[in-house]
Amino acid sequence: MAKRNLITAALPYANGPLHLGHMVEYIQADIFARFLKLSGKDAVFVCADDTHGTPIEINAAKQGRKPEELILEYFDQHKKDFDDFLIGFDSYYSTNSTENREYSDLFFKKLKEKGYIYEKEIELTYCEKCSRFLPDRYVKGKCPRCGAEDQYGDQCESCNATYKTTDLVDPYCTVCGEKPTRKTSKHYFFKLSSFSGMLKDWISYNERLQQETKNFVLNWINEGLQDWDITRDAPYFGFNINGEKGKYYYVWFDAPIGYIASTANYCKNAGRKAEDYWQGKESAITHFIGKDIIYHHFLFWPSMLSGAGFNLPEDIVVHGHLKVAGEKMSKSRGTFVTARQYLESQNPEFLRFYYASNLSHSMTDFNLDEEDFRGKINNDLVANLANFAYRVLSFTNNNFGSKLDSVKEDSKFIEEFTKRFALVSEAYASYNFREAVRLILEISALGNKYFQEHEPWKLIKTERKKCHEAVTFAANIVKNLSILVAPIIPSFSLRLQKQLGMEKLTFRDLNFEMKNCEINRARIMFTKIEGKALPVDEILFPLSLKVGEIISAEDHPDADKLYILKVKLARREIQLVAGLREYYKKEELLKRKVVVITNLQEASIRGVKSEGMLLAADNGQEVKLLEAPDSKHGDAVKAGNFRTAEKNLSFSDFKKIKLIVKDKKVFWSDSRLRTGKENVIVDIADGAIVR
Ligand code: 2FM
Ligand code: ZN
Repeated sequence: MAKRNLITAALPYANGPLHLGHMVEYIQADIFARFLKLSGKDAVFVCADDTHGTPIEINAAKQGRKPEELILEYFDQHKKDFDDFLIGFDSYYSTNSTENREYSDLFFKKLKEKGYIYEKEIELTYCEKCSRFLPDRYVKGKCPRCGAEDQYGDQCESCNATYKTTDLVDPYCTVCGEKPTRKTSKHYFFKLSSFSGMLKDWISYNERLQQETKNFVLNWINEGLQDWDITRDAPYFGFNINGEKGKYYYVWFDAPIGYIASTANYCKNAGRKAEDYWQGKESAITHFIGKDIIYHHFLFWPSMLSGAGFNLPEDIVVHGHLKVAGEKMSKSRGTFVTARQYLESQNPEFLRFYYASNLSHSMTDFNLDEEDFRGKINNDLVANLANFAYRVLSFTNNNFGSKLDSVKEDSKFIEEFTKRFALVSEAYASYNFREAVRLILEISALGNKYFQEHEPWKLIKTERKKCHEAVTFAANIVKNLSILVAPIIPSFSLRLQKQLGMEKLTFRDLNFEMKNCEINRARIMFTKIEGKALPVDEILFPLSLKVGEIISAEDHPDADKLYILKVKLARREIQLVAGLREYYKKEELLKRKVVVITNLQEASIRGVKSEGMLLAADNGQEVKLLEAPDSKHGDAVKAGNFRTAEKNLSFSDFKKIKLIVKDKKVFWSDSRLRTGKENVIVDIADGAIVR
């Protein structure tokens, strides 16, 4: 391992509060940095607020404030959140700093000198009323490819086409609503294309990088890299490009340079040199990022570094996104939880422990599920780990006057534990924290078993010395656990070591040599979660839906658009009145497996009883039934992972529920309707309304 390790986590925008999704990465990077430090490595962990860009400038303008003022507020808020989550940055800085300006100018100058930056006149979307150029998110219009309305200036959410803002049809400014014009402007471009060869080699030969990431980054390179526009025009909040009126570095140019500026901030206070970390031979830089910013970190950033004569990162660890209750976090559903909201109602170390139990060296998304969270905390952390420590130490307090004896344990047995300690270290070193947690819990369970099997409460009456030795051995297991968990739950570790009469133990202190000493009073540090585990609203899917098979269809005697259908569910048959006569012949309906609402109040339609409703999609021209052809009648249809509400609905309640069709599938906001077997399908184009 290299002499100097620099760890970074992505810089959060100074434009909003941190939320539980952000915390995945900071906790992950923090665990790794703490592990390195506890293993005796020189490791420095830096981060900063990402302060520049159009959204921050516009937000400030809307509030009639200066962006400088706004970013200071978020800086304080973020810093406090990080402290309370025990994220141990060695430097938390800001990209709006003197150091960052100097480094940004240095990069720009060096890259320009070497011919990696060139000028080009380009045509951009401009709003006369707002007197500003409109970047991607500030102009909307119809997609130039599929015609979908209300699409942003970079990509169509409906057909996924990517394009330039100037390609939008009938564009409008999202700030003022006016129709924009076009204007040319001189911009600086970074020649990303010149780095294709270097990038390909660096990615292919770096064995640390995750294979899944490598594959698609190499694909991007093979498809050909576009040069990158690193300029933005005024009004903008950022660093003015030297000698260029109204021209600024694009936020993504100076943001990663913020990693270096934050290192410099650390070095200034620690009497070290940032160059040693960023240009020295004996250094290793590890970035932690989310999968949404792979392009910036695997292509732009290494090219900038290499072009300007800085070291390439040793490793870039990419994690997946956090889901809450199986879905993307969402404000409207009450599953968007800010860091502060969490801290106000729950212990930060519980989240650290829960995240660690889920994190591995993979970019798969993972889920924060309330029941799973409660289970892991109550069973693993409290009942297994914390309780074992308390049992052993309080037994020592109460029976041996807090004194420990010597350890007389079979060396084979000690080896069993020692082997596991090494495995925990390996797991941490390879970012496999889930495995580290698993092993730690195994060690703790073995400790519990050891204690239980020795029955010290009995043994003390017959063989006091033997009992004392066994308890001392168990106390050594506790001590070792206090070290092994330190990267994940550092405050628990610290308090536990205090109870053992020790402090600042490192991975070098993993042994069974704690003996003939006195410990302090044992304290209960964690208790089980009772009641609500997380400040997340439980969202229920309001429709109770079942697959039903149509077994008969008759004309309604008094209405020429309606049929009377008999539908078979699991154990019963129901009768429905449905307005399908214009769209389906009777015989076309038979045997179809359709989707039926079963929690709708019974109705009488033109004198005929209807015990539910079929779901169908309507686009004004045709009507198509929602179907689940491979499912069984009676199968439940759910929306994503949401539980279904049992409550009966009136027809007007039902009308408020929005189901939409995308790609012949049916969605309730982001969640697909599906049975245990398959997606519900409907053979109609996107945009149809389900009713
Ligand atoms: O995506 C984001 O939230 C950016 N603020 C991350 C920047 S990381 C680094 F490159 F500066
Ligand atoms: Zn405008």
